[in-house]
Amino acid sequence: MTSDIVIIGGGVIGLAIAIELKLRGAKVTVLCRDFQEAAAHAAAGMLAPDAEHITDEAMKSLCWRSRSLYPEWTRKLEDLTGLNTGYWPCGILAPVYQEQGNKGVGIQGCQGESPAYWLETAAIHQYQPGLGADVVGGWWYPEDAQVDNRALVHVLWTAAQNLGVEIKDQVTTEAFLQQQGQIAGIQTNIGLIRADHYVLATGAWASELLPLPVSPRKGQMLKVRVPEFVTELPLKRVLFGENIYIVPRRDRSIIIGATSEDVGFTPHNTPTGIQHLLAQAIRLYPQLQHYPIQEFWWGFRPATPDELPILGTSHCPNLTLATGHYRNGILLAPITATLIADLIWEQKPEPLLSHFHHSRFHNQPSIPPMLTHSALTPTLPHSHTPTLSHSLTQHSALIIAGKTFQSRLMTGTGKYRSIEEMQQSVVASGCEIVTVAVRRVQTKAPGHEGLAEALDWSKIWMLPNTAGCQTAEEAIRVARLGREMAKLLGQEDNNFVKLEVIPDPKYLLPDPIGTLAAAEQLVKEGFAVLPYINADPMLAKRLEEVGCATVMPLASPIGSGQGLKTTANIQIIIENAKIPVVVDAGIGAPSEAAQAMELGADALLINSAIALAQNPPAMAQAMSLATIAGRLAYLSGRMPIKDYASASSPLTGKVTG
Ligand code: FAD
Ligand code: GLY
Repeated sequence: MTSDIVIIGGGVIGLAIAIELKLRGAKVTVLCRDFQEAAAHAAAGMLAPDAEHITDEAMKSLCWRSRSLYPEWTRKLEDLTGLNTGYWPCGILAPVYQEQGNKGVGIQGCQGESPAYWLETAAIHQYQPGLGADVVGGWWYPEDAQVDNRALVHVLWTAAQNLGVEIKDQVTTEAFLQQQGQIAGIQTNIGLIRADHYVLATGAWASELLPLPVSPRKGQMLKVRVPEFVTELPLKRVLFGENIYIVPRRDRSIIIGATSEDVGFTPHNTPTGIQHLLAQAIRLYPQLQHYPIQEFWWGFRPATPDELPILGTSHCPNLTLATGHYRNGILLAPITATLIADLIWEQKPEPLLSHFHHSRFHNQPSIPPMLTHSALTPTLPHSHTPTLSHSLTQHSALIIAGKTFQSRLMTGTGKYRSIEEMQQSVVASGCEIVTVAVRRVQTKAPGHEGLAEALDWSKIWMLPNTAGCQTAEEAIRVARLGREMAKLLGQEDNNFVKLEVIPDPKYLLPDPIGTLAAAEQLVKEGFAVLPYINADPMLAKRLEEVGCATVMPLASPIGSGQGLKTTANIQIIIENAKIPVVVDAGIGAPSEAAQAMELGADALLINSAIALAQNPPAMAQAMSLATIAGRLAYLSGRMPIKDYASASSPLTGKVTG
């Protein structure tokens, strides 16, 4: 395949950029893992820089510019496709309640180029009949608007196709191949793809490919419908309250959103989320309580630490970044497309872009947090401490069920010769998660007396496990006990469980059917389930689909120290997983730990290889270093394997004769 430009990610940002570049004459390909998972489908479509209270001056300017591009941009797209985007310059009304204070007092009625008007109690109720009785006033933002985001992405997709952009859905970019400071190609599930230039527009998933500080911020939404007996549209503008908004569409549907949850990529709507939205929406606009519900959904906003997008050049001259649009990606699509096309195609960088450059996150320590834990600092001579390029330092965090960990090595407490050795090893490993066999602690099995008290649970996250359970029912019971145990030890919010259902005493192989059944039930009960499984890609997918927080495939039989015997299957699991993959069981030596991490595993769980070593604390430290080395190697992108030798020194410029 030959293309001038490959865009990775086919959400609103990727498609908008593709169209802009195509219109300027580029040959463009868009690769998209899954068009349907894009946040663009989940959004509300508000074009709301004023209602969203954007305070950063450069961001405000970017948002206002984008909002002003909308009428012309959508008209152009509609002309290209004959389809409607639902752009509606309807304005946004932001009512306030008594307890929010009188937000009108002392605030200017006009923010720079964008007017805003304060309405007193009587005025707001007259202007918008049907508001909750306790609304005491509110702001009217006449320039804010909306677009039907689902219609918009459909129009963008169609326009791109009509213009001749090559769009490949269900194509996942797995890694960048870097050579001499350039992107030489991208590894995908359909093979190697090369282009002159690449654009990263993968939204909330950006950090899967590059060490960028982008993380998912989940939003739950629902939609009701204006009943037939209400003849006129009761709402003709967006209502924007605190933690709630109500977006009426011209097709008589009304979007209600949205939660904002830091729970990683945990899917599904939850009763709490929906209950919250409904309660807030009915308070703001009571007649909604009678409207039929049409749909629930959720999506993942691409959030950055400062809530601003990452736009512009990257560490490679032929890779451009356009991600992290957080709450305003629909709004920012036209300006992003224009500025990124100016940058790539015209080499005309807009000065405003410098404010959104990824390097703003560089003034953080150059040693990744995962290298700084106490176990390593005193033992590594300073001159040996690796300093890493910023891009690698940013990618150290492991997120499981919304909880962030710096260490990617988990350990256990079993099989140690003494509690002291176990304590020293846990410290030396630098791990933040330790798994504990609930049954053995409860029954005070040999080696488990006083174990729960032996570790500092204010620093270590307990991962209760269901070891010793032969059936799903037993495992569910023990998981509940585990949750109580974590609570008793001060971890009130710990809902993690490492699920083990192992009926076979000889090979200790997990029961896939029992594991799936128990996982389903435990997820329903609100557990973050980390199931221990044979390295079976189909099972891993099913467990992900039922809502597990990770999958934990075994490398080889538990406690065998045989190393990685299931590499091919683990690779498939990693390739397909959207949740962290933790390689568990069988790793015997640090080289095997590094190898598993080099494959792209998100974390490792190692117990026997540490506990049964001659010097467990030293081995714990070795495993920690190997885990870090493997991770960095994975992020760095290994060199391609070649069939023939290739000289280290270039031949060009060689003196001959
Ligand atoms: P996405 O739209 O998420 O698209 C990313 C695409 O990249 C996906 O299709 C994914 O499959 C693909 N991808 C990921 N990884 C890979 C890979 N390795 N290889 C290939 N493809 C890959 N914004 C507003 O302006 N107004 C709103 O009212 C608004 N409301 C929102 C409400 C909710 C509930 C949510 C969740 C978001 C809302 N947003 C809103 C934010 C907006 O939806 C996002 O900022 C915007 O969609 C981000 O666009 P994107 O193209 O960067 O990412
Ligand atoms: N911009 C609205 C949201 O992200 O929920």
